[in-house]
Amino acid sequence: MNVASFLGLPTNRGPVRVPAGYRKSVAWLPRIGDIVPDFVAKTTRGNLTFHDWAEGRWTLLFSHPAAFTPVCSTEIAALAADQDEFDARNVQILGMSGSSLDEQRIWDADLERIFKVQIRFPMAEDPTGELAATFGMVHEHESDALPMRKTLIIDPSLKVRMIFEYPMLVGRSTSETLRVIDALQANDKHGLATPSDWTPGDKLVFPPGTSDASATEHFGRNWRKLSDYLKVVRLPG
Ligand code: BEZ
Repeated sequence: MNVASFLGLPTNRGPVRVPAGYRKSVAWLPRIGDIVPDFVAKTTRGNLTFHDWAEGRWTLLFSHPAAFTPVCSTEIAALAADQDEFDARNVQILGMSGSSLDEQRIWDADLERIFKVQIRFPMAEDPTGELAATFGMVHEHESDALPMRKTLIIDPSLKVRMIFEYPMLVGRSTSETLRVIDALQANDKHGLATPSDWTPGDKLVFPPGTSDASATEHFGRNWRKLSDYLKVVRLPG
């Protein structure tokens, strides 16, 4: 059951009027819940077959426009600086761009020097743009040649759990990425939802439709009812 039908919302709203120029057919674009397609990539740390590499761990798959660009430099350095945080959450990182492996290796070394970090995650090359096209990473209004900043969080069963896209001129937040990974892992672990701006230690909320009896059965007296539709629980520890 999808979330809309679970909440009793309409799942078929009738025709959507899309400007004619926007009506392009695409074979597939990643959506939350899809199994990510398998692919083979050459990376700065050797070749990989994605499903073999990713299955059993969480993956942060991200595109960026190109090597030797300023915002991308800060994003790569920020991920590298927080590598231990990703390791602690069982998350491996894979970057992707159209730049060659030689360019990316030289760039990595330069970033390590400038930012005093170690870049331990692989960066894949996508010289033909095939991967970027498959994952919907090229937005022609931003650039028809370079991929924009798209991030997929993929779970250990290879399911896409989160997608976010940033424009060329806005760098992504590593702390927000980690926060979302924490939220997804808490959802899975406790069967609970995470409210706005949640961070570990905050109260969680029950998914819509959870009965009082079920809340008490699972969480005893640790939960509170703010309304019929908003029940919160603080987990011990
Ligand atoms: C950047 O990373 O700074 C960047 C890359 C491509 C276009 C614009 C900015």
